[in-house]
Amino acid sequence: MTEDDLDRNRRHFLVVATAVTGAVGAGFAAVPFISSLKPSARAQALGAPVEVPIGSLEPGEMVRVLWRGRLVYILRRTDEMLGHLGDNLDELKDPNSEVEEQQPDYATNNTRSVRPEFLVVEGSCTHLGCAPIEDFPVRPADNWGGGFFCPCHGSKFDLAGRVYNGVPAPTNLRVPPHRFVRDDLILIGQDTGAA
Ligand code: FES
Repeated sequence: MTEDDLDRNRRHFLVVATAVTGAVGAGFAAVPFISSLKPSARAQALGAPVEVPIGSLEPGEMVRVLWRGRLVYILRRTDEMLGHLGDNLDELKDPNSEVEEQQPDYATNNTRSVRPEFLVVEGSCTHLGCAPIEDFPVRPADNWGGGFFCPCHGSKFDLAGRVYNGVPAPTNLRVPPHRFVRDDLILIGQDTGAA
């Protein structure tokens, strides 16, 4: 077995640690997720990039993976979700992603992504690190365009991971380095500088 084969196997161990949730009635599958992580702990410590197959991810679904011990969300956004990204710009702290540390250059755009359909963000609230919960359905009556809610102290983020005004989290959710290896495969933790 070559060194490349070993690296690939390590990455696949990590990808086993996934859980998919849909746009409606989504819940946080913490128990199955955490119990499946044990084999990958050593690889995580090494900081290996993580390959994530996305070919079966349906529009509106999200997958969670671990990279370097950090939770990462990959959400396949629907056209409707993308259509609402401009709705609440006045209510966001950093609508144009001007805090440079929170995303690579290639994700400094209106959708904070390489490909608009796929949002890749760390599932760590920028207040004190709780895992935000998905709340994707749009509710105009509540002035809610869909996004993520942090249960710890009430921070809210939109469907691009941009934080709302008036909540404790100071910045947008962080976009980790990543790139598309193929249309159906994302590599988390490594890019080419231009994704
Ligand atoms: S950790 Fe998310 S609001 Fe405090």
